[in-house]
Amino acid sequence: MKVAVAGAGSWGTSLASLLRSKDHDVTVWDIDPVPVTQINETGNNDRYLPGLELSPGLRATTDLAEAVRDAELIILAVPSQVMREVAEQVNALLPTATDDVVLCSVTKGIEVDTLMTMHQVLEDVFPTSVYPRLTYLSGPSFAVEVAAGLPTAVTIAAKNLKHARRVQKAVHTPFFRPYLTEDVMGVEIGGCAKNVVAIAVGLANGMGFEKNADAALITRGLSEISRLGMALGANPLTFGGLSGVGDLILTCTSEKSRNYRVGYFLGKGERIEKIQKRLGQTAEGVINAKAVHLLATKLDVEMPLCNAVYRMLYEGLDPHEAVRELSSRELKHEIPGRAIPD
Ligand SMILES: NC(=O)c1ccc[n+]([C@@H]2O[C@H](COP(=O)([O-])OP(=O)(O)OC[C@H]3O[C@@H](n4cnc5c(N)ncnc54)[C@H](O)[C@@H]3O)[C@@H](O)[C@H]2O)c1
Repeated sequence: MKVAVAGAGSWGTSLASLLRSKDHDVTVWDIDPVPVTQINETGNNDRYLPGLELSPGLRATTDLAEAVRDAELIILAVPSQVMREVAEQVNALLPTATDDVVLCSVTKGIEVDTLMTMHQVLEDVFPTSVYPRLTYLSGPSFAVEVAAGLPTAVTIAAKNLKHARRVQKAVHTPFFRPYLTEDVMGVEIGGCAKNVVAIAVGLANGMGFEKNADAALITRGLSEISRLGMALGANPLTFGGLSGVGDLILTCTSEKSRNYRVGYFLGKGERIEKIQKRLGQTAEGVINAKAVHLLATKLDVEMPLCNAVYRMLYEGLDPHEAVRELSSRELKHEIPGRAIPD
């Protein structure tokens, strides 16, 4: 299969290497010539996947037309806020891909200016004839572990499972197991909002809180994510799956998570600008926090934890004050909507 991967960052490169290991003909594209030159000249991508050797024969280019030409599968692995501009470029090139090309977004996020999830952005950009061929891969998957060949399970969501099945078969390896679902919205909301909860858990740990706080934040965070997803029509069962609680556990319990690390250093009292500069890579949770806050406000969904993260990142709320506010909220039933006696 001829595959184009748009985005030679951590995740795009890792998936490109996985696909190449299955003998697919893979070209990875990036706007930035640094990872492109390195992949072509040394066979690795030290900026994003330091110390890891990529599958031999992986090609990279800064020319999107070259990557997309004759492609049967196009993977979109760029940050969420540039998905629209990259998708528009891909759309202009679609006639050079094969007629039944399938597209797979592996990006987690919400476009902050429009509050659209990635599938809504893609449906805005591509013609309706392409909709059945739009698929979304998500789930607990650190790029560095996938690139190292460590066992991973993910979810591929699509409104039409026929094409998702093609992606499932294309990426399946003995260590990379993809499941399918039709719940595109549920998968997307889980993949996006968990980054905000990861910032909260990192923050708590940076402030010196331990496992009890982690468990409480993960559980209450999942409850907030489920509420937002259900308000958007998601299937509640999705939040108990890989793209829901699975990705939430991964992101909230490992220092490999950029979003966890952002929170951790915030909890240590560092300023967000300094943390982001040092990170030098996409920490989607920072922008996701704003998008989730705006979306929850628009839909009138109660998300106190995510809201506190937003206010700490964007309005200078002091973390200790946030803890005080959260713990002094009105006492409630654990199940939303259930009344408690006076
Ligand atoms: N890193 C992971 O472990 C991982 C795992 C699963 C999902 N994801 C998701 O995949 C998406 C990409 O994440 P990543 O970690 O690969 O990010 P990254 O910052 O490592 O890489 C993003 C790449 O996109 C490129 N890019 C292409 N066009 C661009 C443009 N117009 N403007 C800016 N950059 C452009 C950048 O140059 C960069 O190489 C995110 O939504 C992330 O949440 C990441």
